[in-house]
This record gives sequence, structure tokens and C-alpha cells, in this order.
Amino acid sequence: MGERPCILAIDQGTTSSRAIVFDAGAAVLAVAQTEFPQHYPADGWVEHDPEDIWRSTLEVSRQALQAAEATGARVVAIGVTNQRETTLIWDRQTGRPIHNAIVWQDRRTAADCAALAADGNETMVQARSGLLLDPYFSATKAAWLLDHVSGARMRAETGHLAFGTVDSFLLWRLTGGRVHATDATNASRTNLFNIHTQDWDPDLLRLFRVPAALLPEVKDSADSFGQTDPALFGRPIPVLGLVGDQQGATIGQCCFEPGTIKSTYGTGCFVVVNTGATPVASRHRLLTTIAYRIDGRTDYALEGSIFIAGAAVQWLRDGLGIVRTAAETEALAAGLPDNGGVYMVPAFTGLGAPHWDAAARGSLTGLTRASSRAHLARAALEASCYQTRDLLAAMREDGAVPAALRVDGGMVANGWMVQFLADLLDLPVDRPVVMETTALGAAYLAGRKAGVYGDFAEFTRVWQRDRRFDPAMPAATRTALLAGWQEAVKRTLSGAP
Ligand code: G3P
Repeated sequence: MGERPCILAIDQGTTSSRAIVFDAGAAVLAVAQTEFPQHYPADGWVEHDPEDIWRSTLEVSRQALQAAEATGARVVAIGVTNQRETTLIWDRQTGRPIHNAIVWQDRRTAADCAALAADGNETMVQARSGLLLDPYFSATKAAWLLDHVSGARMRAETGHLAFGTVDSFLLWRLTGGRVHATDATNASRTNLFNIHTQDWDPDLLRLFRVPAALLPEVKDSADSFGQTDPALFGRPIPVLGLVGDQQGATIGQCCFEPGTIKSTYGTGCFVVVNTGATPVASRHRLLTTIAYRIDGRTDYALEGSIFIAGAAVQWLRDGLGIVRTAAETEALAAGLPDNGGVYMVPAFTGLGAPHWDAAARGSLTGLTRASSRAHLARAALEASCYQTRDLLAAMREDGAVPAALRVDGGMVANGWMVQFLADLLDLPVDRPVVMETTALGAAYLAGRKAGVYGDFAEFTRVWQRDRRFDPAMPAATRTALLAGWQEAVKRTLSGAP
């Protein structure tokens, strides 16, 4: 009896590493997940130990692979998707990182970005990279490492060090140090990649003071990235897909047509609208980014990035200890007749689109003696929805005309939150059957290259809706809620009186 071919998708996220095996019909055969520690060495700084990233990834990959293969399936290819922008530099000889990874949420280079902007560089940076000058992106993080780790700049210039986002680092480790590559989606999050010429941009490298000798080769998102070291899984397995996690979700949600749009609620929230072969320059401080590059063809997207979504609920659980599980927030929020005027602006690491205020910090407003933990839970859930609404408003002004929004990520198991989102957006919101869309996107890329999955049209037929949430909120209620939110944001911005 022949073994059923399947694909191992590795989803290395901000707070956990996951591995999911999908069969040829895109059904989930096995899942393994583990959380790993976060490090906050100073206000606004966020780091990961690269060895935690690697160990947790390897552990869940082995678990999922073994569980799937015990059912008679055989993993024929690996696709990797990852937290984007998070920056690592390692020694090419030893494979050892020179410092902890600087996580995408980290704000330590805010002053460097402000100085570059004050010198009038943002227009050029935006025109070439599609991004803005913000510590979110990798370039200033890489420069920080080169400037603060003793001897690093010299070793970088002489080709002894390698830079990578998490995909590159994992690929390096998976291939036993033989391959130093990335894909176009991850490259497009660094501030160093020219999204029009599809190459590292010499002027951007000069501006951010990043030597070319550090950089990985940029390949298509579905491509031959090399074979895994046989010692890792008992045999070599080809890595055939690499993709940033939000682009992975865009693919997993089958947003292949211009105008199709998805929003993923993980640690943060990222709204991505496909704009087809045309890179659309935003007039409202959204990002122009690469959705995927397949067979040499690039599709672009507009993206709105919110730094804190599920992380606000995690904070209620782990920071305040007022809920035991994230799932509890659904009943707490639903049990209230309204939000009682309580708003949370979760600017724990500054505000992303459309404000881009690195110095802002979170706020809770409208508290009274009647405010309860239910109000805080509700305010945390509502905050993700208000922020999504702000992004959609900016996207509409940039010309997007969405007919419905596809949602995914851990938070959308919360039906109350998804209904509130539909109400606030005044737009139908679709939740898919397979909520593991990020991993599914990576599996699709690798499986397409391996011949397990077909073209976009064929793959789109696999996508199934679990439920559509139609808007039901009276317009006057929506208007009043939004006014309350906008007032709360105004008070939170760093320039607020
Ligand atoms: O840009 C950051 C993003 O890729 C992180 O995603 O799912 O780890 O919150 P997530």
C-alpha cells in the first residue's frame, strides 16, 4: 500500500512554535505546539533566545511528523512560515547567534528611525521598500546589533556573519548550515529590499548601514530551499516553501484575487488586502508589501499592522491574572449589556498603523467603581475590533473596496468578538473551517512545489466557510462606540496633553 503524501508546515510565531501536517486534501493530520519564553530587558525591548526558537521548532516538528507518519502518511516536503521582521545575526562558522533575536515588537531603535525621518529619508524608504521608518522593521535592528555587539560590524563586513529573519535562521539550522536564503515576502519586511526591482537595494543598505555580505539570497516563496540535515528527522526532507506568517495566512485564506482581504488575530493583528500585480502606494501610512512570489511572478498587498491583539488577552491572563484562560473572555464580554464606557488602547509597545507612534504606551479609560474584570475583558476584545476598523477605514481611503473580511488566528474562536467585529465594520465577516490558515499557506507553497497541491483555482475549492457573521448593530450605537474609542486613542498618543 502506498503511503499518503503530506506536508509538514512549521509555524514559528511570536509566542509559540507550531507544526501542523496537512494531507493532500488540506485536512489536518497532526498538530504540535509549544510556547517559549519572552524576554523584556528594558522598556519597549522584546527579545527571544534563538536557541528557544530552534529547540521548540525542532521538538514540535518531530512530534507532528511522527504522529502523522504513524497514520500511514509520509511527509514529502516542508513549508516554513514565521513571525516576520524579528532579526538575528549569527556566525557562519559556528552557527551561533551573536545576540538574542530582536523581536518585531521591540522599540529600541525608535530614536534612530526618528533621526532618519528628520533627515527627510522616509519618502525614499517608502518608495523603494514599501515600508515606513519605524523600529518594527529589521534594518535598524540589524544595525543596532552591529553597533552594540563587540567586533560585529567588522566581522559582518568581512563576510563572517549572516543576517536573517526567523525563516532564514530556521532554514540555516534545518539544512545543517548549508543554505542561507529567504523568500521575497520576508525580505519585503526588512526595509532593505526593493519591492520593485526584487533585490536588496544598495541605497537602502547604505542608509541603514547594513553590509551586503550579511544578507541571504532571496528566492520565490515556493522554491527549492535545500534538504534538511538527515540527522534531524531520520532522512533528508526538501524545504519547498518559505513565507512570512501574515502572507501565509493570506494564501491559506485563498486571498488570491485583487480586493480579497484577510485579518489574522494572533499576538498582533494584521489586515492584508491583495492588490494583484500592482504595488499600491498608501496615502494613509499603510504598508506596501509582497503577498507572495511564485514562479517568478510577484503579487502585492496593502497591509495594516496592529502590534497587540491576542497579546492583550494574554496580559489579562498572565499579567493581571483576572482570567484563567483566554476562552473565558467570551462569556465575560457577552454577559455585559454594554462596555460601560471602558476602553483599552493596548499600545504596550507603541501604536502601529495608521498612527505609527513608537512612544505611545497603553491606557485604560472610563473606569468607575462599577467597572469589573468583565469590563476589562470586553475592552481588550473590543480594542482588536476598533483597531481593525481603523485599518479598514485607511484601506478604503487607499481604494480598497472589500465585500467581506476573512478572519483567522486564535482569537476568532471567540464568537462574541467576531460578531462585534462585523457590527463595527458594518461588513460580513467570514470564519473558515480550517482556522490554521497561516500554516496552511506554508503547506500550500511547499505542496504546490512538490506536486501535492494544484494551482490557485484548485486550492481555492478546498477553502470552506465555517460561519458568516453579518453586521447587526444599529448605526447610532456604532457611531457612539467609535467616538468613545477615538477619544481614548487621542489621550493615548505620545503627543497627548
Ligand atoms: O509582523 C509580525 C507578525 O509576523 C507576527 O505574527 O502571529 O506571531 O503575531 P504573530
